[in-house]
Amino acid sequence: MKLSYRLFAGVTSLLLAFTVHGHRVAVIGAGAAGSSTAYHLRQFANADGVDVNITLFEKTNRIGGRTLTTHAYGDASQPVELGASIFVPINEILWNATSNFGLPLQPAAGNDDAAGLLGIWDGDRFVYTQDDRSSGWWNLLRLVWTYGTAPYRANKLMQATIQRFLELYKAPYFPFRSLTTRAYELELTYVTSQTGQQFLDAGGVGVRFSHDIVQASTRVNYASNLARIHALDAMVALAPSGASQIRGGNWQIFDRMARASGADLRLNTTITHLDKVPGSEPPSNKYVVKSTDAFGVETEEDFDNVVLALPFQYSGIETGDGVLQDAIDEIPYVRLHVTLFTSPLTFDAAYFQLAPGSKAVPTTVLTTLSDDDDDDGQGSSGGADGSGKAGFFSVSTLRRVIHPSTLREEYLYKIFSPEAVTPAFLSELFGVKVPDTFTDKTTELPVISWYYPHVFHSYPKALPRVTFQDPVVGDGLYYTSGIESFISTMETSALMGKNVARLIVDDLQGLTTGGAVLAENGEEDGKSTAVVESDVKQAAAGEL
Ligand SMILES: Cc1cc2nc3c(=O)[nH]c(=O)nc-3n(C[C@H](O)[C@H](O)[C@H](O)COP(=O)(O)OP(=O)(O)OC[C@H]3O[C@@H](n4cnc5c(N)ncnc54)[C@H](O)[C@@H]3O)c2cc1C
Ligand SMILES: *[C@@H]1O[C@H](CO)[C@@H](O)[C@H](O)[C@H]1NC(C)=O
Ligand SMILES: *[C@@H]1O[C@H](CO)[C@@H](O)[C@H](O)[C@H]1NC(C)=O
Ligand SMILES: *[C@@H]1O[C@H](CO)[C@@H](O)[C@H](O)[C@H]1NC(C)=O
Repeated sequence: MKLSYRLFAGVTSLLLAFTVHGHRVAVIGAGAAGSSTAYHLRQFANADGVDVNITLFEKTNRIGGRTLTTHAYGDASQPVELGASIFVPINEILWNATSNFGLPLQPAAGNDDAAGLLGIWDGDRFVYTQDDRSSGWWNLLRLVWTYGTAPYRANKLMQATIQRFLELYKAPYFPFRSLTTRAYELELTYVTSQTGQQFLDAGGVGVRFSHDIVQASTRVNYASNLARIHALDAMVALAPSGASQIRGGNWQIFDRMARASGADLRLNTTITHLDKVPGSEPPSNKYVVKSTDAFGVETEEDFDNVVLALPFQYSGIETGDGVLQDAIDEIPYVRLHVTLFTSPLTFDAAYFQLAPGSKAVPTTVLTTLSDDDDDDGQGSSGGADGSGKAGFFSVSTLRRVIHPSTLREEYLYKIFSPEAVTPAFLSELFGVKVPDTFTDKTTELPVISWYYPHVFHSYPKALPRVTFQDPVVGDGLYYTSGIESFISTMETSALMGKNVARLIVDDLQGLTTGGAVLAENGEEDGKSTAVVESDVKQAAAGEL
């Protein structure tokens, strides 16, 4: 019944394709979501014989959005990720695109000669350290020695949750018109409705492991403490096995996608207004998109479909009457300072209360809360925005680098913090005076030779929630960033882009795909997902 319906609709679309040429689709924003939308739209449309004409608008002069690369010392041969830096093999859209485009993949960390000790610092002491130069089993042994079965239980919970999430990639869960409905059907609202802390407590993962290890992950990945982030993001933060990146920059994946889509690419073009064409009936276009280019020239163009592939609240786009049938809620985002710099120095043992010359000074320091902090990280020691006594989320030695003019060997560092890094902090961290200007032009061999601070609205503050902004927000109008409150990664934005692409091609063919799974086939096969015992719940109850 379903098959014949699809066939029938396929025939109608063929007929339609002969009568209506080139449905015009505007994709606004060329980050992971918009590039993936354009790429998959081209593929789905070609496969179904639907004629689409895609225009991809991007306000900056590059593709990638929050996936962006800068260069140490401003030297093109020394790229370093400023934004999204890692993805993993289960991120199939990115992983497959990488291999399809022949992009060079490298491990995100570990195999580098700067690898050393990883420490988890609470502002008073290291609660855990791990030697990345030692073998994997030795570190595993340490973990088990310190935390008993907690790592095993946490891993089970993470696996069960991720397996559930991966259902979103396939029929009958893909495509989806409502993320809220799918989250419910997959029992993932059970996960998103709780804090990471509650979820791990209920799953019998000891407090110590949650506090030391999982919280260090949620802080470095999402700048959030475990009691202030929903459990789905907490599980995602725990799942970096096989962490990789594209040599030369992850943005290349999205650049390739955008170009492979054959879209008319409009860089340096900011969308300012989106209005409905009054009284438009098919086949005429529904939307007027107003843009301003690099020279300040304003243009108006008509489109049938529009995809908003950006966090709407920061886009500056004004919408006219009747455009948004569903208002797009404002979401609180984390304001994250990412600071990159180079220095020949390593961290001062004294800063971490270690003896001078100690071999135990980590090269990468993740953080957790101290005993003086409350769950918010706002205790007596009160670090900004939940950072607690440590005052920062992480400081990492990324790799050894060579200064291009002095040829001095140095280290490339990255700091994640809720507030701007100060010279006073760096002076303490390295145990030498760092000037107020950070870099020092008066001396030939400055302590800090290159300094690059940046501030992002990095990702939502993922407090527990059970509803998510759906991808359809108007008639032929789609939105991708709702998924960021569910999980914020390059892959999930790309998945939402792919989902929206599928919906557009189905909508153009008059197909009503992407509805509730329970209503569609729950009766037929006699077991709806609601009846299936949730492996997530079982794992949470310690039964797996
Ligand atoms: C510091 C940091 C670290 C991160 N680490 C990781 C990580 O390791 N792994 C991971 O998977 N994810 C990571 N993320 C999250 C990841 O970057 C995002 O989830 C993802 O890139 C979001 O993609 P997007 O396309 O939805 O949005 P964006 O990347 O924000 O893209 C939106 C695009 O729209 C454009 N735009 C905005 N307004 C307009 C307008 N009016 N007209 C035209 N264009 C407009 C913007 O310029 C931008 O290019 C990190 C994010 C940050 C900030
Ligand atoms: C897309 O549509 C625009 C506007 O109608 C047109 O100028 C352009 O040639 C079309 N592109 C393709 C590839 O058909
Ligand atoms: C965009 O603007 C930048 C700087 O303003 C310029 O260097 C670049 O060539 C422009 N790119 C395009 C495609 O217009
Ligand atoms: C990725 O590639 C594998 C192997 O070809 C395929 O089985 C899988 O469906 C692809 N995944 C996605 C999301 O395209």
